[in-house]
Amino acid sequence: MEDIALQSLIEQIVINLGTVQTDGQWYIGKIISEAISQSAARPKLAEVCKVLVAHPKANLSYTYLRQCVRTFTYYPDALQRSLPSGLYFILANHIYRHEDRDRFEQLAAEQNWNANQLAAEIRKEARSRKEQAKSELGFDLQLTNLWYFNTSDPRFGKSDFRGRIAGQIVANALYYFAGTNGLVVDVFAGSGTLGDVMDTLPAFEGRKYVMFDLTPSDERIQKNDVILTGIPLLDNSAGYVFLDPPYAHLGQRYYGTSESDLSRMAPETFLAVMFSVIRECKRVLLPGKNVSLIIEPIMPFDGDLIDLQFRLGQKFIEEGFAPVSKVYVPNQTMRNEGSMPNIIAQSRNKKKLISDCRELLTFRKVARDDSGVNNIATGCKRRK
Ligand SMILES: C[S@@+](CC[C@H](N)C(=O)[O-])C[C@H]1O[C@@H](n2cnc3c(N)ncnc32)[C@H](O)[C@@H]1O
Repeated sequence: MEDIALQSLIEQIVINLGTVQTDGQWYIGKIISEAISQSAARPKLAEVCKVLVAHPKANLSYTYLRQCVRTFTYYPDALQRSLPSGLYFILANHIYRHEDRDRFEQLAAEQNWNANQLAAEIRKEARSRKEQAKSELGFDLQLTNLWYFNTSDPRFGKSDFRGRIAGQIVANALYYFAGTNGLVVDVFAGSGTLGDVMDTLPAFEGRKYVMFDLTPSDERIQKNDVILTGIPLLDNSAGYVFLDPPYAHLGQRYYGTSESDLSRMAPETFLAVMFSVIRECKRVLLPGKNVSLIIEPIMPFDGDLIDLQFRLGQKFIEEGFAPVSKVYVPNQTMRNEGSMPNIIAQSRNKKKLISDCRELLTFRKVARDDSGVNNIATGCKRRK
């Protein structure tokens, strides 16, 4: 749209908005929507809102403007409906599904709720839905690719084990990436968190798993040095592989004094070992099945970034795996543990950032007929 035409449309909207109270959200939405639909140039809503926000007399946020327009769009007849118009702002912007909006509208009318009561009831239902999902599955199901847990669920893993992963991470990884059949394999089992998750949660009942580690912490875990014997399974025998290796932090030596302990290795040696583990994953996985790796970058105080997830992700692709997912997993559960407070103090003194977020990367072993590539724009698959 021409700048001049847009500016004059904005001026007109600003004049009209001047006649409305700031809480007249439905009217604000009506003024903007009607101005756009009556304009011959039909500018985009996002463009109009962006310019409006920058106008010195408008003084309303972009999000608020979009919410006002949504209110008018969903409820153009709000003035003829049963509730005060302010409640339609809440219905339009706090509830996603229109059936739920209709249900809450009816409830609010029957119970004579004010805006605060309506918002509180909507929040209450959202919380109870989350709790219900949790009790059905037995764990805190995540719905986005940011998995943030304040504490480790005490049912999973051994609390005194250094580097124990929060069981909720494993549970979500299994739920989303392990599929429903085939042997689940943990190559760096540590304190047996994966086994505990699978033994405890009904969602994974009956699924077989095997755990390996250089230093087994209980009898369910088989002793294995991944450097010497790779993943000791037959070709095409695994339904999912989970990798939680110790990162190559020089001198960390969390897991013993063996030369094979990955936590003792220089980063390049660590990467070389992990490259061979990736090749092993390719060998043992059934076609079409996934492997997940949880990893973070090394950000030394006295050197450059070593981007482990990038280097390892690249190796998966080189080996012919297809990328499936990337999840961000903040380290919050460990912030007050071990040497972390000391590391945080050092980072402040040295003016260097520390890594505080892991990534859970998942790749699929490409099946013979899986030659489609993802179309980024549509998410559809097309044949090469
Ligand atoms: C980060 S911990 C895994 C923690 C585990 N996911 C848990 O929740 O308890 C990494 C594990 O890798 C094991 N490890 C280190 N070097 C190894 C090697 N060469 N072969 C097999 N396991 C190794 C360590 O003994 C340690 O238990």
